Amino acid sequence: MIIFALETSCDETSAAVLSSSRGDLKLLSNIVFSQIDIHKQYGGVVPEVAARHHIQNVIPVVAEALQKAKIKPSDIDLLAVTTGPGLVTSLIIGVETAKVLSFAWKKPLLAVNHMYSHIAANFYGNKIQFPAVCLVVSGGHTEIIHLKNYRQYKKIGATIDDAAGEAFDKVAKLLGLGYPGGPAISVYAEKFTEKMQFPNIKLPRPMINSKDFNFSFSGLKTAVLYASDKIRNKDENYQIAMSHYFQEAAIDVLVSKTIRAAKKLKVKTVLMAGGVAANKKLRETLRNEAEKNGYKFIVPEFKLCTDNAAMVAVAAYYLSEKKKVPLNSYEKIKTDCNWELK
Ligand code: KG4
Ligand code: ZN
Repeated sequence: MIIFALETSCDETSAAVLSSSRGDLKLLSNIVFSQIDIHKQYGGVVPEVAARHHIQNVIPVVAEALQKAKIKPSDIDLLAVTTGPGLVTSLIIGVETAKVLSFAWKKPLLAVNHMYSHIAANFYGNKIQFPAVCLVVSGGHTEIIHLKNYRQYKKIGATIDDAAGEAFDKVAKLLGLGYPGGPAISVYAEKFTEKMQFPNIKLPRPMINSKDFNFSFSGLKTAVLYASDKIRNKDENYQIAMSHYFQEAAIDVLVSKTIRAAKKLKVKTVLMAGGVAANKKLRETLRNEAEKNGYKFIVPEFKLCTDNAAMVAVAAYYLSEKKKVPLNSYEKIKTDCNWELK
C-alpha cells in the first residue's frame, strides 16, 4: 500500500509518501518546508502569514514528495491529511488541497488528528509493547496518553494553562533568545557548568506532587520573570544560567509525572512525542528514568518530532486498518477542524 500524506496545521508545509508491505513501513519521501525564517521577525507564528505561505508552497511540496519517492499519483492507494487541532487558517489549505487531490486522483482520503500523528511517529520502525504511556509535548499541547494498543488511547492528563513548548518559547523571548525558543533554550542550557559565577536560582516545580497527571507551566514562566528582575547584569551568562534552571524545572515535572503514570498504569513502554521531544536533555532524562524503572523507552528521531507529514502517513496506516477505508474508491471526508483526542 502507498500512502500520500499532507500536514499544514501550523507553520510547516509538509508532504510525505509511505509504503507498507506486510506491516513493514518505509518512508519514500518526507518534504518539510519550514516557515521559521519568515515568522522570526514577528517573534512567533502569525496565522494569516502562515496561511499565505502554505498557499504558495503546498503544490511545490506535493510535487517534490512525489518526485523524491519516484511514484505517480496512480500508484497511491490512500491520501491522508491533518484536520486538527491546529491553526484553522493553516489547516484549511491542507484540507482543501487534499480534497482536490482526492477528487482529481480518484483516491480515498482519510482525516487524521494531529496529536495522534505525533504519537504515531513512535510507531515508525518500532514494534511497541503495550500497554504504553506517551508524554506528548508540543507548542500547543502537553498531555499524557495511555495507549492500550496502536489505535486505542485515552488522555489521562494535560496542562491546565500553557503548553510546555509555549513555556519554552515565552521564556526564550523573556531571556532575549529569539524565536523559535525551544531549540534556543536547549542550546544555551547545554553551555551551563556548575563553575559559572551565577547565583543558584531555585525555580518551582508546579504540580509535581499533585495526585493527577495534569501540568501547569504559567507559574514557572512567571517565576523566571521574577528571578530575572533580580539580576542586574543581563549578559550571556545570565541567558545560559536561566535557560538551564528553567529547563531543569520543566524536565523535572514532565519526567516525574510520566514515570508516575507509567507505574500507576503498569505499562511496558514509555513513549514521547511532539516538538519538545526534540529536546536532548529531556530525551536523555526520560530515557534514564524509564529504563531505570524497567520500561522500554522509545522516542522518534529528531526530524519526526516536530511537525511533518511522515507522522501523518504512519498514523493513516494504522487508522486505515481500523476504519477499513475502501481503497481505490473516492470518498468524501468531513472536515472537522476541532477534532480533539477523546
Ligand atoms: O510539535 P510542534 O512542531 O508543533 C506543534 O504542534 O505545536 O512543536 C513546536 C514546539 C515549539 O514550542 C518549539 O519551541 C518546541 O516545540 N521545540 C523544542 C525543541 N525543539 C522544538 N522545545 C525544547 N527543546 C527543543 N530542542
Ligand atoms: Zn505538532
